[in-house]
Amino acid sequence: MDHFLYHNGVLHAESVPIPEIAAAVGTPFYVYSTATLVRHYGLLAEALASMPHLICFAVKANGNLAVLKVLGDLGAGMDVVSGGEYLRARAAGVPSSRIVFSGVGKTRSELRLALEGGIRQFNVESEPELRALSEIAASMGLRAPVALRVNPDVDAKTHEKIATGKSENKFGIPIARARAVYAEAAALPGIEVVGVDVHIGSQLTDIAPFRQAFEKVAELTRALRADGHTISRLDLGGGLGIPYARSNEAPPLPHDYGQVIRESVGSLGCEIEIEPGRFIAGNAGVLVASVIWLKEGEGRRFLVVDAAMNDLARPSMYGAHHDIVPVFEAAPGLEHGLYDVVGPVCETGDTFAKARALPEMGEGDLLAFRSAGAYGAVMASEYNARPLVPEVLVQGDHFAVIRARPSYDEMLGRDTIPAWL
Ligand code: LLP
Repeated sequence: MDHFLYHNGVLHAESVPIPEIAAAVGTPFYVYSTATLVRHYGLLAEALASMPHLICFAVKANGNLAVLKVLGDLGAGMDVVSGGEYLRARAAGVPSSRIVFSGVGKTRSELRLALEGGIRQFNVESEPELRALSEIAASMGLRAPVALRVNPDVDAKTHEKIATGKSENKFGIPIARARAVYAEAAALPGIEVVGVDVHIGSQLTDIAPFRQAFEKVAELTRALRADGHTISRLDLGGGLGIPYARSNEAPPLPHDYGQVIRESVGSLGCEIEIEPGRFIAGNAGVLVASVIWLKEGEGRRFLVVDAAMNDLARPSMYGAHHDIVPVFEAAPGLEHGLYDVVGPVCETGDTFAKARALPEMGEGDLLAFRSAGAYGAVMASEYNARPLVPEVLVQGDHFAVIRARPSYDEMLGRDTIPAWL
């Protein structure tokens, strides 16, 4: 459930009519609902309530400082994958003691930055990273808290570009080699082994791969303890899917996800960390756009809107489906037409939907792309010199711009023409 509902035929974000935001901010823009973020976080907290746990929001899904602050104020930790994300989490007021650092290619300067800040945990993905981290930590007189990310060779049954748990993917240390790498870690002067980490992919709509992966982690944990390691934390990654199409998708419920965690690793007595991004933020945001033209093609009708693939990349990048709804609800029984919904960017790939049923629409009409709160604004670019799309946060009956649209001057001012030209 989210808080983007029609009241008197007008789509609202919580109690704010979306046309009111459109009038103030202009389109396109992202708008997020605080109540939805809070609700989704709460569902996960409830699902894990019987175990000691920390929910580390995956900053990559939505890195806006205001969004991070909403979650941080609830007690959330953060999962970051770059120095920039680490600094975003800190700037939103989240203490380092609740931040975990994931990623296959952390640079030495990023490792140092996080060590200086006193980070909770590094999820280390390779031997070279482990050795470098030990060297840097030891040179600072520290021991870096480490979980090794293992690759359990489990098929997450999701889109190939976001599956990470198969042995052919670049992620993690092959689980068969894990014990040897833990032995090396324990012998390094700058490393303190604290746990095991796994993440098998994103937008999982089937619970079975989670169970398979977590059972493998449980088995490994027992073996590592027998080898003499102290394993007090299990980071089980993110990946819980969300319904993108209201009609036909039924991803696992958080309660069932919690149960799988309890059944597979609960008896080990570890603190459980999870790294959800999409589950918390995905349905907490929509992208609002206006129709520029209705263009009649050869046997097709194109709805040309003022949002494009640079603002919401998921359809062009993954062929992803986003429900598209009119901001002014169609009268019941009104005839729907079939539209190709496209942006202004000069690529055929700039297509949000083909032959999508929508009520009659024309110039200036507002529409909303649902489920755009995760991997929406964060993946936006200024391709075609389109200024970065702004973001708005709603709480109850008020809203605030949480990232303004850059002016053309700001956009152009970032370039420099060398003196010799
Ligand atoms: N932890 C790690 C180590 C990850 O790599 C990811 C996502 C997450 C947590 C969060 O996963 P989530 O709970 O959001 O599924 N741009 C793609 C998604 C890429 C996901 C990358 N890693 C999309 O738009 O679908």
